[in-house]
Amino acid sequence: MSAIIEATPVERPVVTPLPKGDSCVLVIFGASGDLTRRKLVPALYDLACIGCMNPRFEVLGIGRTPMTSEEFRERMRNAAAVSKDARDFTAEHWADFEKRLFYLAGDVGDPGFYPRLGGELERMRGQGSSGNHLFYVSTPASVAHPIIQGLGSAGLNQSPHGWSRIVLEKPFGHDLGSARELNAAVLRTFEERDTYRIDHYLGKETVQNMLVFRFANSLFEPVWNRNYIDYVEITAAETVGVEERAAFYEETGALRDMVANHLLQLLAITAMEPPIAFDADAVREQKVQVFRSIHPMTEEEVTRRTVRGQYGPGEIDGRLVGGYRQEPGVRSDSSTETFVAIEFQVDNWRWAGVPFYVRTGKRLARPLTEIRVHFKRTPQALFARTPDEQVEPNVVVISIQPEEGIALQFGAKKPGGQMQVVPVQANFCYRTAFGGQTPVAYETLLLDAMRGDPTLFTRGDEIEAEWSIITPIEEAWSQLPPPAFPNYAAGSDGPRDSQELIREELRGWHGIGRTLSCAAELRAS
Ligand code: BG6
Repeated sequence: MSAIIEATPVERPVVTPLPKGDSCVLVIFGASGDLTRRKLVPALYDLACIGCMNPRFEVLGIGRTPMTSEEFRERMRNAAAVSKDARDFTAEHWADFEKRLFYLAGDVGDPGFYPRLGGELERMRGQGSSGNHLFYVSTPASVAHPIIQGLGSAGLNQSPHGWSRIVLEKPFGHDLGSARELNAAVLRTFEERDTYRIDHYLGKETVQNMLVFRFANSLFEPVWNRNYIDYVEITAAETVGVEERAAFYEETGALRDMVANHLLQLLAITAMEPPIAFDADAVREQKVQVFRSIHPMTEEEVTRRTVRGQYGPGEIDGRLVGGYRQEPGVRSDSSTETFVAIEFQVDNWRWAGVPFYVRTGKRLARPLTEIRVHFKRTPQALFARTPDEQVEPNVVVISIQPEEGIALQFGAKKPGGQMQVVPVQANFCYRTAFGGQTPVAYETLLLDAMRGDPTLFTRGDEIEAEWSIITPIEEAWSQLPPPAFPNYAAGSDGPRDSQELIREELRGWHGIGRTLSCAAELRAS
């Protein structure tokens, strides 16, 4: 890229503060687990620091590990102190915040636990706590059923003194059948409007900005279709391995962990029709239509249009790392995929014939989450200097991580006598344009759940539609001979076969090594 244009706000932005959440007791099942420590508590702390917490907001952590509320607070303090999500961590702010944290040890598989939980909530209310209850199920999928049942049989699915809502973390089932069962169990107990199925990608600022980009600008929507778009690439690359989650990951793999939810959501937001309003049902209805337009693949299509991979040893950022099979807790002959690339076809009026290439993997060259929309070449190469020369087509890059922003690539005349065209980039970078930090996904979503806005949560039929796409792929893979793993080195762009998937007709993946940079950095480089 030889030039950049920077996009800045036309008016000086006045950042409006986030709204305040309703008063409530947030009951976290799985409070001694990883997610609570790493994501939920830092996000809650941050919300408290920026003034979004209702004075009557408290957390009641539930876990099997016996612990006092004091010990729970200490564990959470240690985690928040090192978390990058708990911005501006200070001992003073924490001391204020931790007064809101409580813990109750119990076996969530024991039906006798739920009346005890009800008693505790009643006792807290007697001492001034809120009568609104937000139950957050952050446990392995197998434990979700007894929790839902227990809440229902103890009457906690309704609160006589306020509202009662449930938040369910992924994985929401492991295939279509189990997702249907879980949906049925939840909806026997809670109303759909009180059920919040979380996909944290929907809480990311740039993902929401994609809706604004598409539907608040008249410039892009007329060309956002098969007449002008050649193909779409959606990438979620990570440098991390399976971290301490081998047991979970061995059962899940990249397809269920990332594609079945996060990447399909990114695809839906890219491909959906304009909703009639920005409200929960209108937005979710349009996303479901996209999922329904992706036909389940046959075994033959799965062979042709999917690539699985598993990392072997390699080097990331100058550091040698082991292969997946050497990770603690992973079987030495594991055939779990840590990489997947898929070509999806969205068979509807707008998108027929436009491939959506989706890829995700662990231990890749660099962390990068982005959507690249590649436009068709001009019908005539007017400025080509030789018969074979091609002018680069337009590309819109929606960058989600590590940098948040949008870039538009187009051709410009290179200064000088010849009519030589070079690609240039118009860059809009959140950080450069608005400064400051954007809220992290869990903050946005927790606040929405407290305020009763389910727009950024997935509806039951969306989840089932997602699994209708994924389950046939899992089933076909289980019938095919096991792939020769490992098939990519840690620190690379993934298996070579994934390049082949997209190579026809001069299409290609954008290298994982390159990404959008903020204008200030481009100027400096
Ligand atoms: C989680 C997956 O849902 O998303 C993880 O279970 C993955 O395996 C994570 O690392 C990625 O989230 P983010 O926000 O870091 O892109």
